[in-house]
Amino acid sequence: MKYSLQNMFFSLCCIIVSACPMVSADDGYDLWMSYRKLDDATRLKEYRQALSSVVIQGDSETLRIIREEVKKGLEGLLGVDLPIHSTLVTSKALVIGTPKQSQLIQELNLSKELVTLGHEGFLIRSIKIKGIPSIVITANDDIGLLYGSFHLLRIMQNGQSLADADICSSPKIQYRLLNHWDNMDGSIERGYAGKSLWKWNELPETIDMRYQDYARANASLGINGTVVNSVNANPIILTAEYIAKLKVLANLFRPYGIKLFLSIRFSSPLRPSSNRNSRRGGIGILETADPLDLDVRRWWKDKVKEIYQSIPDFGGFLVKANSEGMPGPQDYKRSHADGANMLAEALAPYGGVVMWRAFVYDAKVDADRAKRAYKEFVPLDGQFRANVFVQPKNGPIDFQPREPVHPLFGAMPKTPLMLELQITQEYLGHSKHLVFLAPMWKECLDFDTYAKGQDSYVCRVVDGSLHDYSMTGIAGVANTGSDRNWCGHLFGQANWYAFGRLAWDHKLSSEEIAEEWIRMTLSRNNDVVRTIKSMMMGSWEACINYMTPLGLHHIMQAGFHYGPQPGYARSSRLDWTSVYYHRTDSLGLGFDRSSSGSNATSQYFPPWRKRFDNIGTCPEKYLLWFHHVSWDQKMESGRALWEELCLRYYKGVNYVKEMRRTWASLEKYIDEEIYVHVQEKLATHEKDAMIWRDTCLSYFQKFSDRPIPVFFDNSIIE
Ligand code: GCU
Repeated sequence: MKYSLQNMFFSLCCIIVSACPMVSADDGYDLWMSYRKLDDATRLKEYRQALSSVVIQGDSETLRIIREEVKKGLEGLLGVDLPIHSTLVTSKALVIGTPKQSQLIQELNLSKELVTLGHEGFLIRSIKIKGIPSIVITANDDIGLLYGSFHLLRIMQNGQSLADADICSSPKIQYRLLNHWDNMDGSIERGYAGKSLWKWNELPETIDMRYQDYARANASLGINGTVVNSVNANPIILTAEYIAKLKVLANLFRPYGIKLFLSIRFSSPLRPSSNRNSRRGGIGILETADPLDLDVRRWWKDKVKEIYQSIPDFGGFLVKANSEGMPGPQDYKRSHADGANMLAEALAPYGGVVMWRAFVYDAKVDADRAKRAYKEFVPLDGQFRANVFVQPKNGPIDFQPREPVHPLFGAMPKTPLMLELQITQEYLGHSKHLVFLAPMWKECLDFDTYAKGQDSYVCRVVDGSLHDYSMTGIAGVANTGSDRNWCGHLFGQANWYAFGRLAWDHKLSSEEIAEEWIRMTLSRNNDVVRTIKSMMMGSWEACINYMTPLGLHHIMQAGFHYGPQPGYARSSRLDWTSVYYHRTDSLGLGFDRSSSGSNATSQYFPPWRKRFDNIGTCPEKYLLWFHHVSWDQKMESGRALWEELCLRYYKGVNYVKEMRRTWASLEKYIDEEIYVHVQEKLATHEKDAMIWRDTCLSYFQKFSDRPIPVFFDNSIIE
């Protein structure tokens, strides 16, 4: 979490001598694709020489997009006019094509390399063609060429040499999806960047330009699917009227390699509910939605057929069932597997999949919410059809600032698990706080579950290599909206970017991703990049510290989930209150999930089971998640829990203050509009982080009955 003041000062001195002040106006719309002209003279010269012409062979909608993108990108970066040819001219060239459509590529005999790349992978190589030094982008299919072209532009924006380029890249995970929680009325559940991108009242006649820009941004990262509507699905999405609108979106997304998926309401075959706000009811005429009922099964088959008639590459259904009031198979005493399999059967002939969410927490299953999904789903392992994913969130509660990994990872060897991450910052300061989420996702992906002994990482569960899953997937709950800069907070773009990059290659480090994004979005000045990167890298840990340090969780304002409300105690459900989670009393703080408490620790594989269970070996970052800890418990630092807690809250706030100071020092080097936008966000961020600290500490103090220490030594809290 530390980025030292000294380093910062040094960096800033360097900036002053090395960077040219920036004056322009950037509203953030172009995301990481603004292709500003390169200013490194040596690289510029190298690139201009290596790419003095472009040859793209073949014809398709995707190739048309590639032509436009490469032209726009190279002309922007190199500051020259670059005609695109269809045959090789005598100068050094960038040649793009598949062996199927390009004679030049075919003659290079790259079939050995291409065989490993699959449908989406690409190869970028520096190679001689007819004696002329060239850069080649090739792939088995056009979509691989598009991904390869975006990658070349990324390399160039990051100033890497192309001299000996030899890059083979293919995605480690097959289904890389955004999940939009967009409602049909244009609002977005947990959306903090304006209204929905989808203008249902205008479609299918009017096509907003942003649909294409959205697809382009996703393609630049390799995101290949989008669930366009909220998991709390409105069944009207399945009516003929909406299918006609969806068809337009699917047609637009197709050449970008993006498939359209839908969230469905399980009770869709039922008659509409008389209550418009009800989560029950459907669009049909049936009296039941029982998954074993023949009429219900026929209804879904007919509906699926109707969808595929309009959208032949439709991806499939995402389902939230028997969760938070949504209907599901258990309403008919059937299991999650019965429900998922009925839909899977309807989709299978067309190649569609079901993503069945594991976000269930029926209070009857267990007194501890964190244990419920595991208890419901593990017994069903092996009962799902081949085209069903079960989709758990990264942790067992609900996208908290930090959670231990969901115990389902590793525990369902026969069922492909699709990891659900949340890009939108529901519990991490909405679009008001600067929180870079890649480190959080990496912590989850790199967690060793020990399901099959050492090296059973979550990423190996998700990419299928641990259990030989036949299909693999990852989803991110989108943070996009109608705001001009797409994500509300300019730095929210970094989280969309990071999700896409990790979905393609979970081995990338958070630092690499942050650096790429900064160079492509904000500045290519090395010192500025270093400074912003260090701000970003500690921002998640800082957020945990001023919100929920040491394993605390779910103490946010009820419903709204922005500010703190640790005293929230009254609700229709106990597990929606804060007191349920923190369990503060005069003795201490935290939820006892050890074997002497709810025994949630038993859901993990050894050695975690024991490590989590024992207060002495439980990692401190999860301490209050798994244990009720005495106020005087000695922590690793030697301080008592109460003092450590206070320290963490102070540290978190101080980090934000420091980010604000750092940002202020960058004024000259950042686009003016972006600078002011972020500066304003950071002011709110700082104010609200202090509210978090002060509210939580004064609340917990009532129980600890101890003074809040004064931290005179600033180095402790920096
Ligand atoms: C959270 C969130 C809801 C959402 C739910 C889900 O509880 O607050 O808005 O519907 O997660 O993931 O289904």
